[in-house]
Amino acid sequence: MLLLSDPAVGISDPYLRHAFSLAERGRGTTSPNPLVGCVVVRDGEVVGEGFHARAGDPHAEVVALDSAGEAARGAHVYVTLEPCNHFGRTPPCVDRLLAEGVAEVTIGMRDPDPSVTGNGADALAAAGVIVHWAEDPRPFEKQNEGWLTRIRLGRPFVRVKIALTIDGRPALAARRRSRITGAGGRRVTMALRRQATAIAVGASTIDIDDPVLTVRDAEERPEERSPGRIVLSRTCVPAVRSRVFSDGGGCTLVTSEAASADEVAAVERDGVRVLRYAYAEGLSGALAAVASDGVNDVLVEAGPSLFSALWRSRLIDELVLVTAGGMSGNAGPPLFLGTADSDGADLAPVFHAVEAGVAEGDAVTVWRPRV
Ligand SMILES: NC(=O)c1ccc[n+]([C@@H]2O[C@H](COP(=O)([O-])OP(=O)(O)OC[C@H]3O[C@@H](n4cnc5c(N)ncnc54)[C@H](OP(=O)(O)O)[C@@H]3O)[C@@H](O)[C@H]2O)c1
Repeated sequence: MLLLSDPAVGISDPYLRHAFSLAERGRGTTSPNPLVGCVVVRDGEVVGEGFHARAGDPHAEVVALDSAGEAARGAHVYVTLEPCNHFGRTPPCVDRLLAEGVAEVTIGMRDPDPSVTGNGADALAAAGVIVHWAEDPRPFEKQNEGWLTRIRLGRPFVRVKIALTIDGRPALAARRRSRITGAGGRRVTMALRRQATAIAVGASTIDIDDPVLTVRDAEERPEERSPGRIVLSRTCVPAVRSRVFSDGGGCTLVTSEAASADEVAAVERDGVRVLRYAYAEGLSGALAAVASDGVNDVLVEAGPSLFSALWRSRLIDELVLVTAGGMSGNAGPPLFLGTADSDGADLAPVFHAVEAGVAEGDAVTVWRPRV
């Protein structure tokens, strides 16, 4: 996902670009599966298309072939991810492509699973289908960086969003709810939430701010789909009456085994799902538990403690800062609790800016780790 620019621009083939856009329609709902889009083309005309909407639903290829019907015979299929050649929750897409008699398949990226990679493409080629690969797999890999992160690292892709004052403070006073950014910042927050599989905050932010963590329109009406909600904690169990626990929208508390069993049992009785991890594993353990729950990506709306712990553990894949044009002054807590990233006297940057823009008077900068 790119916040301010269109990632499909780098895809030269128009049918693959269309398949990419279709895949985007599953963003936020396909976990633990990838985003996949598919287009069926016959004599230069699109005769079928589809995308994977959610785990358990038909794969993109099946949706596209269903919509093409008889026209799929001899067609050229464009699909963003290598078709599967194994039984999962659904039968292999390779079998279906062969049964429909398609002539050519163009694939955006390989399936990275070592037990799968190349299998789908090889099986198609062995059956006489002409297989092509996208010139550049990077836009497709970027589209699925959540899924790829979970498969490769056993944790979700972690996007952190923080609102700041010009003097770099995340609040106007310590342990107090403060609204920092304006309409532009709110719009960015809602756009990020809309595309997330889950939104996470620290337990103390639940206690201080009591946020609802839903996606709402400009009139504050909740949208049809809101991402999953996660509270990250080490031992703190927020009050049962907290809005995320009590509004009926569902919430998962991810806390360590050191948290009070009585307090955990009390929130569980009130319908909160609880995932436990070993205290010694820290945030890595917490995120591994989230990944095991099938979550490919998480938007963390972090306060200073959680942000600092994620930074120190090198667990941030993308950082979105939304800066508003005012000062907090010394009453505001610092954003970072820790020592400088320094190489002696000079700053040794570990992140670099990848995007910057303006949203109705608030500034948005997007940062990624330097590799
Ligand atoms: N400007 C913004 O974008 C923004 C966003 C969110 C919050 N805030 C503000 O930030 C303030 C709250 O900040 P905060 O620092 O108290 O809370 P925080 O950073 O949001 O969250 C801290 C919580 O994270 C949990 N946690 C889980 N693993 C952790 C780890 N390894 N290390 C540290 N914490 C871990 C802690 O649980 P345990 O308590 O069990 O240790 C703690 O309750 C509020 O004033 C809120 O308004 C601002």
